[in-house]
Amino acid sequence: MTVSIDRDGEVAIVTVDNPPVNALGQSLRQAVWDAVGTLDADPAIRAVVLICAGRTFIAGADVTEFGKPPVPPHLPDLVDRLEQAGKPWVAAIHGSALGGGFEVAMGCRFRVALDAASVGLPEVTLGIVPGASGTVRTPRLAGVEAAVDLVTTGRPVKAARALSLGLVDAVVTGDLRVEAVAFARKALTQPLPQQISARPVTSPDPAWWDEQKKAITKRAKGEVAPLRALDCLRVAAEAPFAEAMAHERATFLELRASDQAAALRHMFFAERGATKPAHLAEVTPRHIRSAAVIGGGTMGAGIAAALRDAGLPIILIERDADAVQRARVNLDNIFDGAVKRGKLTEAQAQARIDGVTMGSDYARLADTDLVIEAVFEDLAVKRAVFAELGQTCRADAILATNTSYIDPRLIAQGLPHPDRFIGLHFFSPANVMKLLEIVPTPTTSPETLATGFALARQLAKIPVQAGICDGFIGNRILKRYRAEAEALVRQGTPIAAIDAAMRGYGFAMGPFEAQDLGGLDIAFLQREGARAAGQDVPETLGDILVRAGRKGQKTGGGWYDYRPGDRSPQPSQAVASLLAGRVSDSSGLPFDQIANVLVTAMAAEGHAILTEGIARCASDIDLVKVHGYGFPRWRGGPMFATR
Ligand code: 3HC
Ligand code: NAI
Repeated sequence: MTVSIDRDGEVAIVTVDNPPVNALGQSLRQAVWDAVGTLDADPAIRAVVLICAGRTFIAGADVTEFGKPPVPPHLPDLVDRLEQAGKPWVAAIHGSALGGGFEVAMGCRFRVALDAASVGLPEVTLGIVPGASGTVRTPRLAGVEAAVDLVTTGRPVKAARALSLGLVDAVVTGDLRVEAVAFARKALTQPLPQQISARPVTSPDPAWWDEQKKAITKRAKGEVAPLRALDCLRVAAEAPFAEAMAHERATFLELRASDQAAALRHMFFAERGATKPAHLAEVTPRHIRSAAVIGGGTMGAGIAAALRDAGLPIILIERDADAVQRARVNLDNIFDGAVKRGKLTEAQAQARIDGVTMGSDYARLADTDLVIEAVFEDLAVKRAVFAELGQTCRADAILATNTSYIDPRLIAQGLPHPDRFIGLHFFSPANVMKLLEIVPTPTTSPETLATGFALARQLAKIPVQAGICDGFIGNRILKRYRAEAEALVRQGTPIAAIDAAMRGYGFAMGPFEAQDLGGLDIAFLQREGARAAGQDVPETLGDILVRAGRKGQKTGGGWYDYRPGDRSPQPSQAVASLLAGRVSDSSGLPFDQIANVLVTAMAAEGHAILTEGIARCASDIDLVKVHGYGFPRWRGGPMFATR
C-alpha cells in the first residue's frame, strides 16, 4: 500500500495505490489522514486532488476487517477530517467509488468522475448500512429521494446519472488526473461550495416514509439492512447532523456483527472465489470467439440469448424448418421481453437477433469454437447430436451438454477427442439465472474445464464445478428438499403451512408453490424413466397428483387449486381426497420447526455431496442454492446457515 504526494504548482495530487481495489484498510486510512495534515501544513498548496492507481477509485471499507474490532483512525473521522481540511480536496473517480470510497469522496469538497465510472453505496448488499456518513451526507448532497434509492437498493449509478442527481460535480473524458487538476484550478477562482455536512435537508412528509417502508419491507423478504438503512435516512432527514451520525454509526456497528452480515460476507467472498478456481490457476483456457447451440426450446433459446448478451456470434441448430421457426419465436420473445422491461433498446434487441444464424444443417458448425447441446432430455437423441458434432466440428471445438440428469459419460461415449467434452448446466431462464454448474467427465481436459470457467466469466455467471451423480449438486439437493417436504405432508403438516414457513425463511416461494409454477410433470417423467429402466423409485405424492392430471398451474391445479386467471394458490379439497390414506391425521410438525427441518435436510445432502467429492467445497454448495434455487442470499446458503 502506498499513498504518494505529487505537486503540480499550487495543486497537490494524492495517489492511493492499494491493490486490488484500493480498499480502505487501517493503514490506508492512516496514510490519507496523514496526507491531510501534511498538505494543510504546506503553504504552497491551495487545492488537493485525490486519485487512485489501478482499476478503480477506493472500492469501500476493507471487508476483510469486518470480523475484527475497528481500529482508528475510524472512517467517519477520516471523512470529517477531509471535509474540515484547510484546502479543498477534489475526488477524481475512475472505476467505482463505492461505500466508504464514495463516503471519502463526499468528504472532499468536489467530485469529478470519468464518464465510465460509477458511484454507489452497496453496503446493504453486505448486510450493513453505510458507516461513514453515507446515509447522512447523501441526502444533503442529492436530496432524500435519490439517497433512499441509492442506499436502500445498494445499486450503483453511472457517472452521467450521478451528475444529474448531483452526486458528482463534473463528468470528464480522457486523462482523469489532468482534468481533475484543471477542475481544481478553476474551482480556486470561485467561492467554495458549502461543506456537505452544513447543507440543509428537507424531509418528505410521514406518509412518504411509510410508503417507502412498505415497499422495502415487501422487497427485502426478511433482509434487515435495507429497512435499517431507511431508518437511518429518516433520522438524517429529521435530526441534526451529529445526532444522525451517531445513529448511523450505532446501526452500522450493530449490523456489522449480525448473522445476516456474516452470511452476506460469506457470499461476497464465495462468489469472487468461484470465478478464480485455484486448481486451474496454471491452466490457460481456450479463447471462445464463436458459439453454437443445438436445440432452441426453453433452454436453448435462453442459452443463445446469454451468449448473444456477451457479444458472441451464434449459430442455432434445430431439427427442421418448423422447429427453427419455433426457436426464432422463443428467441424473439426473450429479446422483446428485455425491451419491454427497459433492459434493451429496440436497436440493441435487433442487433442481438441479427447475430444469430439459424438452420438445421450441422455443416455450418465446421469452424465454431464452442457448441452447447440443449435438445430433449433423452440419451438417444443427445447421442445422435454428438455423433453429428463429432463428424462436423473441428477436433479442438469444445462440445458441451446442458443435460439435467443424464450421466454425461454416457452422452460422450464414442465421441472423438472426448477431452473437449464437458457438461455446462445452465438454469432457467438461462439468460437471467447466474448459476452455471460445470461438470467435467473423467476424460475432460483441464484446458476444457478452464474454458468452462472462462465462459462463465464471459457470460457474467457464477461457475460451480460439480461431479457426476444424479442431479449434480443443485437438482440432487432439490430432490432431497422435495422428498423431505413430502415427508412432512405425510406426517400431517399442511401443504400451505410448509410453503408459508419457507417463504417466512426468505424463499420467494415454498416447495409446493414452486412445483405448481414449474410443472410437476418434469420430475414425474424423470422418475418414470428411471422406473422403466428398472430402478426402484418409490411412488411420491407428486406422482399421485400427476396421474390424476394435476400437473400444476398449467392444468389449473397441482398441489393447490387455481381460479381461472388467478395465480394465487388455494388449498385443494381434491388434493386432500387424492392423498387421503397416505397422510397422517395428526397435525404434523409445528410451524416454527418446518424451515429448520427442511434446511437441515438440504445441508445433510450437501454434506453427503461433499463427502463423495461431488462438490469441491461447502461454499460452492451455498452458491448453487442461492444462485440457482432461490435460497435467501442473506442466510448464506444451507451449509453456512447450519454451520
Ligand atoms: N474489501 C476487501 N476486499 C475487496 C473489496 C473490499 N471492499 N472489494 C473487492 N475486494 C477484493 C475481492 O475479494 C477480490 O479479491 P481476490 O482477488 O482475492 O478474489 C479482489 O478485491 C477483486 O475484486 P473483484 O473480483 O470483485 O474485482 P472487479 O474488478 O470485478 O470489481 C469492484 C471491482 C466493483 C470494486 C468489486 O470488487 C466490488 O463491488 N467490491 C465491493 C465494493 C463494496 O461492497 N464496497 C462497500 C464495502 S462496505 C463499506 O464501505 C462500509 C463503509 O460504509 C463504512
Ligand atoms: P425443450 O423441449 O423446451 O427444448 C428442446 C428442443 O430441442 C426443442 O426445441 C426440440 O425441437 C429440439 N431438438 C430435439 N432434438 C433435436 C435435434 N436432434 N437437433 C436439434 N434440435 C433438437 O427442452 P428444454 O427444457 O429446453 O431442455 C433442453 C435440455 O436442457 C434438456 O436436456 C433438459 O434436461 C436441460 N435443462 C432444462 C432445464 C429447464 O428448466 N427446462 C434446466 C436445465 C437443463
